[in-house]
Amino acid sequence: MVAIAILAAGRGTRMKSDLPKVLHELGGLTLVERVLQSCQEIQISRRIVIVGYRAELVKEALIGGKEIPENPQFPPLEFVEQTEQLGTGHAIQQLLPHLEGFQGDLLVLNGDVPLLRAETIKQLIAVHKQHQNSATLLTANLPNPQGYGRVFTDSQNLVEQIVEDRDCTQAQKQNHRINAGVYCFHWPDLEKILPELKADNDQKEYYLTDTVNFLSPVMAVDVEDYQEILGINDRKHLATACDILQTRVKDKWMTAGVTLLDPNSITIDDTVELQPDVVIEPQTHLRGKTSIASGSRIGPGSLIENSQIGENVTVLYSVVSDSIVAENSRIGPYAHLRGHAEIGANCRVGNFVELKNTQIGDRSNVAHLSYLGDATLGEKVNIGAGTITANYDGKNKHKTQIGNQTKIGSNSVLVAPITLGQDVTVAAGSVVTEDVPNDCLVIARSRQVVKPGWKLKEPKK
Ligand code: UD1
Ligand code: CA
Repeated sequence: MVAIAILAAGRGTRMKSDLPKVLHELGGLTLVERVLQSCQEIQISRRIVIVGYRAELVKEALIGGKEIPENPQFPPLEFVEQTEQLGTGHAIQQLLPHLEGFQGDLLVLNGDVPLLRAETIKQLIAVHKQHQNSATLLTANLPNPQGYGRVFTDSQNLVEQIVEDRDCTQAQKQNHRINAGVYCFHWPDLEKILPELKADNDQKEYYLTDTVNFLSPVMAVDVEDYQEILGINDRKHLATACDILQTRVKDKWMTAGVTLLDPNSITIDDTVELQPDVVIEPQTHLRGKTSIASGSRIGPGSLIENSQIGENVTVLYSVVSDSIVAENSRIGPYAHLRGHAEIGANCRVGNFVELKNTQIGDRSNVAHLSYLGDATLGEKVNIGAGTITANYDGKNKHKTQIGNQTKIGSNSVLVAPITLGQDVTVAAGSVVTEDVPNDCLVIARSRQVVKPGWKLKEPKK
């Protein structure tokens, strides 16, 4: 039986931020969400998050969070408050009343190690169980170990002590083996010695790492890829983590058959799904729950967010948020789809067109300079250049409905709420304020007047 505890009570002073450190985002997920995610493949009996600095905010973010699925397989999140942040050891001491009588292992993770792989955690637990250790901790050999606690072991890989960077002598600093901040403890052992911790160190804090002085055996397990255990303490670390994550994600998609042109100028959240033979062009950013089907070409210069793009679609210099585009449609250049726009198959949404909460049937076109909001278009509709739905009366939004094969002449305004039937033709420059039945021509503008032989009078001298 394994319970997990995530340390998320610290402010993260070095981030120089009002936001608790664990709520900073990395590739669309907060740091603490990522830590929780890395534990998703292990069988856990309890999930505890230790909160303190702006606890309400952290709780809210996790409960309303994006990536913590309401999976019945997982026990619900529990929050334990550490009202004063007196160190990582002090944080775990707060669990004492909550884990009374618990006989299993406690996996402890710092809330600021977002790049851990599930495999690594599984391996740590396996070693812990195999050797029946009192504690097992994840370590790494870093080229630059500055800032991390140094782990000292004997020839059997058993941990003798952990010394924080700031408490190290010059000689101790030469040890490049560091503590990753990920531990597996046999709780009944830990429970007994937790009250023994002292705050006699440079920071005057109760260190969780000091528990190794009281426990035995304590074993160190080296992580293969040291990039996994990067702890985020400041904005530079966050940028480094971002790079590492991007490399991981891009390598994965390129291996799976996706072309990335100029990969360094592209960013892809790890929540995005791509099919083989997708081409991503330079300066393109794919975020959130986005999926792109085979044969589609996205970019250059596009942002796709929480959207589903079908097969063989092109999106050129455009922004697509919370929207759906079906196969063979062409978006852009310079289009903006948002607020649940749904584009059918074989459509064209062209230059300087904004669509909000608008559904467009197959083979319809909105090719130039339009705003359509809260509109539903049938199939084979053609929206002339400069057409606007006037959907807002200053208080409320209203709907526009346009039937199949209807053609809206250039520079028309459709004043909602309004319904235009099928096979309607709207004359250019119309301001349409009343519903139009099927098979009609509607001209809603004043008739052109031509006065033959008319000339400006000569001004009097
Ligand atoms: C810690 C380890 C260090 C390790 C490093 C790995 C200790 C004493 N040191 O140092 O050996 O190499 O992580 O990244 O544990 N937190 C609380 N309550 C507190 C203090 C901290 O919940 O009172 C949380 C923080 O929110 C954070 C985590 O614990 O998520 C780690 O704290 P941090 O201050 O970043 O520890 P480090 O100095 O990085
Ligand atoms: Ca840290």
